[in-house]
Amino acid sequence: MKTIRKPGAMNRETGALRAAGRSLGLVPTLGCLHLGHLALIKKARRENDVVAVSIFVNPLQFKPKAYQAYPRDLEQDRRELEKAGVDFLFAPRAEDMYPEGFDTRVEVLDLVDKLEGKSIRWHYRGVTTVVAKLFNIVDPHRAYFGRKDPHQLALIRRMVADLNFPVKIIAVPTIREPDGLAHSSRNTLLTPEERVAASAIPRALGAIETMIRQGATDRQELTMELVTTLAMEPLIKVDFAAVVDAETLEQDVFGKSVLIHAAVIIGGKRLTDNRVVTS
Ligand code: PAJ
Repeated sequence: MKTIRKPGAMNRETGALRAAGRSLGLVPTLGCLHLGHLALIKKARRENDVVAVSIFVNPLQFKPKAYQAYPRDLEQDRRELEKAGVDFLFAPRAEDMYPEGFDTRVEVLDLVDKLEGKSIRWHYRGVTTVVAKLFNIVDPHRAYFGRKDPHQLALIRRMVADLNFPVKIIAVPTIREPDGLAHSSRNTLLTPEERVAASAIPRALGAIETMIRQGATDRQELTMELVTTLAMEPLIKVDFAAVVDAETLEQDVFGKSVLIHAAVIIGGKRLTDNRVVTS
């Protein structure tokens, strides 16, 4: 595996591979890799001649404190990527991604305000900006994203369609621990007691899924039920809960897929999870 730091060097490598007719898959990550990331990487490995993984803790999508605190372990990640048969690790430095004078943002307008709403618009603007840059630098045929982050996935699909990026977006199902909790770098920060409490998240989502499968359609009622079920666990503070159309993220329009989405705070750590129910 080749580790590349400079955007220009990465672009030259993949440009040459593309010219030679090799197919290229990209898996963008923040690092601190877990089994969820590895599922994306495995799928990319199966579907492409060449696989690149990017590790970049993107300052544009974090508040300064959270940016400093985000776990980083490049050496351990490198070992995991070697084992997974990855060809390129692109790990740029912040000053090379955002040099002095950097002044452009890529923003999806309406869709960004759906689901969790306007309060985190700045976060997703950071995500779409960095992903647009990664697509331009690596120029992959396919890029892999988790269904764990449905809003992020929807925004990236929108951006790719709107800006004609020649890349196919591949969505990968959420990988879970044995009790159903979705793998996340934040799980490692939970105390044993908080970790037990966290298993109430997938249980609550599952309960709402069952209600929908049994014919419940009132989204307000389903959302309230989701909040109530989550709040039954004393360590959980519900930060956000919604039952929306899985494609448009609208609450009032009824498509064939419904997204049940929850964000909770446990001991100061924010965990998110979701289920999609297709009729
Ligand atoms: P990060 O949180 O590192 O996640 C990288 C990718 O892994 C995302 O597409 C995410 O949805 C996926 N993922 C995380 N946990 C997963 C799980 N349990 N099962 C399946 N997939 C999972 O998301 C980001 O990084 C950043 O915002 C990024 C897209 C890299 C832009 O900076």
